[in-house]
Amino acid sequence: MESFYITTAIDYVNGSPHLGHAYEKVLTDVIARFRRQMGDKVHFLTGTDEHGQKVQASAKKRGIPPQQFADEVSAEFQALLPKLTISNDDFIRTTQERHKKVVRQILQQLFDKGEIYKAEYKGFYSTRQEQFLQEKDRNPDGTWPEIFGEVTEIVEANYFFKLKQYQDWLVEFLTKNENFIFPAYRQKQVVEFLKEPLNDLCISRPKERLEWGISLPFDEDYVTYVWFDALLNYYAAVIDQPDIWREAHHVIGKDILVPPHAVYWPIMLHAAGLPIPKQLIVHGWWMQRGAKMSKSTGNALNPLDLVAEFGADAFRYFLIREMNVGQDSDFTREQFLVRYNSELANNLGNLVNRTLNMTTRFAGGVLPAAEVEEDLEKNLRALWEKTSAELIPLSEGFQFHTALERAMVFLTETNAYIEKRAPWKLGKSTEEKDQALLRTSLATMAEALRLAVAAMQHVIPTSAAKINAVLGYTPGAVWRDELVWGRKLNGAKGESTLVLFPRPQPPEKAPAPAKS
Ligand code: MSP
Repeated sequence: MESFYITTAIDYVNGSPHLGHAYEKVLTDVIARFRRQMGDKVHFLTGTDEHGQKVQASAKKRGIPPQQFADEVSAEFQALLPKLTISNDDFIRTTQERHKKVVRQILQQLFDKGEIYKAEYKGFYSTRQEQFLQEKDRNPDGTWPEIFGEVTEIVEANYFFKLKQYQDWLVEFLTKNENFIFPAYRQKQVVEFLKEPLNDLCISRPKERLEWGISLPFDEDYVTYVWFDALLNYYAAVIDQPDIWREAHHVIGKDILVPPHAVYWPIMLHAAGLPIPKQLIVHGWWMQRGAKMSKSTGNALNPLDLVAEFGADAFRYFLIREMNVGQDSDFTREQFLVRYNSELANNLGNLVNRTLNMTTRFAGGVLPAAEVEEDLEKNLRALWEKTSAELIPLSEGFQFHTALERAMVFLTETNAYIEKRAPWKLGKSTEEKDQALLRTSLATMAEALRLAVAAMQHVIPTSAAKINAVLGYTPGAVWRDELVWGRKLNGAKGESTLVLFPRPQPPEKAPAPAKS
């Protein structure tokens, strides 16, 4: 059994979770469930990033100690996970001793090796980004980009990590590991970024400016820069399991790729003599009204509202179906409703109900075996064979949206098959040939449903389990085998109804076509 270690970014606890955070959890969960289905021994980590200026400032605003503030918001992030049916194995908080201990250990080790030095720094500092700026960060007109907030000039002594000396190593590493970053065009952007010389990284903040952090083990007057602290969570959580660490995959948003995950992180690990992660999987942003969904923009949606209204599976389905991993997507309620109604309620929900109703009506609730395959059945089976052959490679390449689209086409064709086969007509005939065809049609629609559900079970786990239960079916342990068209439901005793995606909304009225 192969190990597969997967992590999400750890969320800042300066505000409540929004849809962007929820998406990252769902995407990572879909990858984790998919890998488990493929037989891997998966370890799935998520958590919260609790130190730094932003959290200190938010706590101050509320007039409570930062730890209390962090406890409250971290609890909100933790409470979201079961609501989204996230199957994480661990949850790490950067204020936990297990994390702080590793951060101190690595800092001391790098300090002892001479990788960290103290120097006077004079320059511009962005409090919002907790980052020192360079001339090249300015707008062409000399002002500072909006994202940096207020920028002030400061002079102070700080500790620096010798990043620059590893620039050539990193370029070589990326050349040798072409698939380090998914999508591939993001890796090209990193290589481009590395054409400019790197600066050493300031990894400390004097306590008089920022208290809320991990003290440097070699100088108590300073706390650790929040990114140096946060990145180490991935390693800290599995410190005693080196085999797991070697299989690390990090799911992150595009805003935190360069420089933290693509530059600082591999160099930090390399300097500390530790293995580099296998892959960074970089997703895009959920946008609303043309802007990145975020708390500060005020356009953030609360994922809990959508889950309360439509259920976790519909929410998960929409996010995964709509977004091509790596690119941005606009979130609109209209589009959510279109997919909810046409794909889940109509395509999947109707097939479930038709299968159960007709099996009850024509076969006393016991799923019969297929007997006389004709062209209609053969064509549907051929479509499944084509579909199923694509599912694994698509999912291995994180093309979950396309895999779902294929499953939907198959469901549409299955519903079309039922229309053409018209079991209700066959049910009226007493001829044995028609009765055999009727039994075949019931077996065919049930088998098609079982297969479509197997194809989507990592995205809609709760509905998949419910559908299998009403089909009287317990899936086997080997997922690949579940994707094979067979006679698995032969003789299973089904239920008569299942309400899966209730309250279907009327589809938004399409605008009338313009008259020419
Ligand atoms: N704390 C850092 C990450 C440290 S990882 C060692 C951080 N936190 S965050 O709360 O701002 O963002 C957490 C994750 O959510 C990031 O991967 C970020 O890209 C993602 N998202 C935040 N808003 C998003 C959207 N609107 N859309 C999709 N994901 C986005 O960065």
